[in-house]
Amino acid sequence: MIKITERYIKIDSVGNSLILAKSIDETTSANNEFLQLLYYGKKLNDHDDYGIFGEGRADHYNGTSNDEYPIVPTVFTSSGDNSGREQYARISYDGIFTNHFVFAGAERVDGFDSPLPTARNKGETVKLSFVDKVSGATVNQYYTVFSDSDVIAVHSEVVNTADKEIFVLGLASLQLDFSADRAEVVTFDGRWGAERCRHETEVVAGKLSIESRNGVSSPMHNPFFMAKVGSKTMGFNLIYSGNHRETVEVTAYKRVRIVTGMNDYALSYRLDKGEKLVSPEAIFVCKDTEAEITAQMHGFALNHIVSPVFAYKERPVLINNWEGTYFTFTGEKILDIAKKAAACGIEMMVLDDGWFGKRDDDKTGLGDWFDNEKKTGGLKKLADGVKALGMKFGLWVEPEMISKNSDLYRAHPEYAQAIPGVEPTERRWQLCLDMANPKVCDYIAETLIRLFKEVGVDYVKWDNNRSMCDVYSSTLSNQSEYFYRYYVGQYSVLRRITEACPEVLFESCASGGSRYDLGMMYFMAQNWASDNTYAFDRLSIQEGTLAGYPQSSMGAHVNAHGYSLETRFNVAAIGAFGYEFDITKSTDEELEVIKNQVAFYKQHRKLLQYGNYLRIGESVTKSDIGGWMVISDDKSEAIAVLIEKERTHMLYHPRFTFTGLDENALYKVTARKQANVEKTLEFTAYGDALCSDGLYLGNFYHTEKDKKQYPNTFSSRMFYFKKLN
Ligand code: GLA
Repeated sequence: MIKITERYIKIDSVGNSLILAKSIDETTSANNEFLQLLYYGKKLNDHDDYGIFGEGRADHYNGTSNDEYPIVPTVFTSSGDNSGREQYARISYDGIFTNHFVFAGAERVDGFDSPLPTARNKGETVKLSFVDKVSGATVNQYYTVFSDSDVIAVHSEVVNTADKEIFVLGLASLQLDFSADRAEVVTFDGRWGAERCRHETEVVAGKLSIESRNGVSSPMHNPFFMAKVGSKTMGFNLIYSGNHRETVEVTAYKRVRIVTGMNDYALSYRLDKGEKLVSPEAIFVCKDTEAEITAQMHGFALNHIVSPVFAYKERPVLINNWEGTYFTFTGEKILDIAKKAAACGIEMMVLDDGWFGKRDDDKTGLGDWFDNEKKTGGLKKLADGVKALGMKFGLWVEPEMISKNSDLYRAHPEYAQAIPGVEPTERRWQLCLDMANPKVCDYIAETLIRLFKEVGVDYVKWDNNRSMCDVYSSTLSNQSEYFYRYYVGQYSVLRRITEACPEVLFESCASGGSRYDLGMMYFMAQNWASDNTYAFDRLSIQEGTLAGYPQSSMGAHVNAHGYSLETRFNVAAIGAFGYEFDITKSTDEELEVIKNQVAFYKQHRKLLQYGNYLRIGESVTKSDIGGWMVISDDKSEAIAVLIEKERTHMLYHPRFTFTGLDENALYKVTARKQANVEKTLEFTAYGDALCSDGLYLGNFYHTEKDKKQYPNTFSSRMFYFKKLN
């Protein structure tokens, strides 16, 4: 519910309140009206007086000094606030970059326009307006609440209500100020092959800024992060796939400011009279614990981001040929893989890179989205052959890219991102396409819709294997709008394709998990977590991913090597699951193991993909013992994987704990039968005991039959819980 009164704007989600007061800034000579942020946290009762939060009061008056100013908490600041702190908006007019924004009113609205994806199934929205006394420009901030979530969404637009052109130099989505002297920030950072690994940083002075600048949300820093300020634990994310920046700043006046949004790097967005620029939607939520933040983020993604067609749809068990064949395959080979896979119960065959144009290695062919019939034996025939086995058929594409050695480049070199007169830098022997050019967008949308329909694909893996550097569009007069306009174009293509093919399941991929964000998730229900499929490395990648994104979104495959087949299954089973190796080379014994794994996964798929996810104990980045659980809503069923990173059981028996079970329920606990473990384990216990520290599972972790084959393995076991009373 959103309430607007003479004094207050109270924005209530299901469990949080954000309370703003219309105040006069008496600390400046201008006496401007502004919005004071009185409170953000657990939901509060409605009242006509929130003076208790210091309404109308600056905590400190420093009118004659050179330092930070003003220091009253608020949700909107600009470059004229003289604070020296991180600001929400920066607008330049006639070369002047100082703004004096004043609050100009709040009204409830039915919705808003945005060229970017924004949360689905909106509840109420309030629009707050601020007018710049210098340029005459208007900034509108929109806050939206939802009937089933504690999350609040916010974004803004700059409208050129001035009398001449203006340039937007910075436009954030969210600003929150708190009175506190420190913030404990949890970010999810990394690189290719090690995406979204958890890091904890305590900020006591200055700023922690995480960002991306190369055109994708990036493996370096994910836009999802958490911050603990005082007693509040908060989670933040952005519905955007391009350059982003998240800042947590702490100043000596015991102020914490959090600002999130698109990056202002290389941004100088020109607006003529009447035009507007809309920022991506940010989401935020406040709870007591990290686990509750994770639950809120999962629920929000499923109910308000992912397409309703796929939000709660069980995802097929797939096999992908990439790590099995790379570029060396024929249609026959793919069909052989599919046959073996189908016999194991696997439900979908995904044909990865190399089926199109003249693509026999990664140096050629991107852009030529037509069948390499010589190699595939006919794509449609292959797809039909796979379907005749009772399987679905999926296909890899990398639409935002172009190889110099391609028919598309020979015909349309101007489609590539390249600065006139400058040789563009290739990465993986490819260039980015210019998605700010409507002709490029049309080419991609039309070609792919035709292809997907002709072949009859059930699934598409949409890859993006390089970031941007030679940023230029022949269609733009102002290149400092490029990064934003790229995504306006890219999202329009995704919208066209997903609307034309609503039943096709899309999985986003970007050299693994380099564009794992809510912007892509709006169009693509799944995201390939990482090219690193080694089970041990996956522990931290997947834990970091699942902190902010639901398990049904996370592509997780069993690869061919490194660890026991059973260990690889135990790790991958918490995602949208599949296999990625040449199954025609598997032994009969291995095929039997795979068959059992697939049967187990399918039997418990709903719980694994949509059960309530909880991390067990400390992060795997900090502890030798950990794992995860998924628990049904009524807590009658659960699955856990317990891992022991170091095989210390030669010296002592590890002690474990579970989490999240119904404390008063009696559970039957059965360890999944693993082919590499001789012993079986089944017992009953009450939830309170199971969730206590120090569980002793005897020497169940003691030894694995395939230890010689996989000497460096870590131990993992999977347990199924069924409530008895
Ligand atoms: C990227 C993806 C891989 C695979 C290759 C194909 O690296 O992350 O999964 O699809 O491209 O070239």
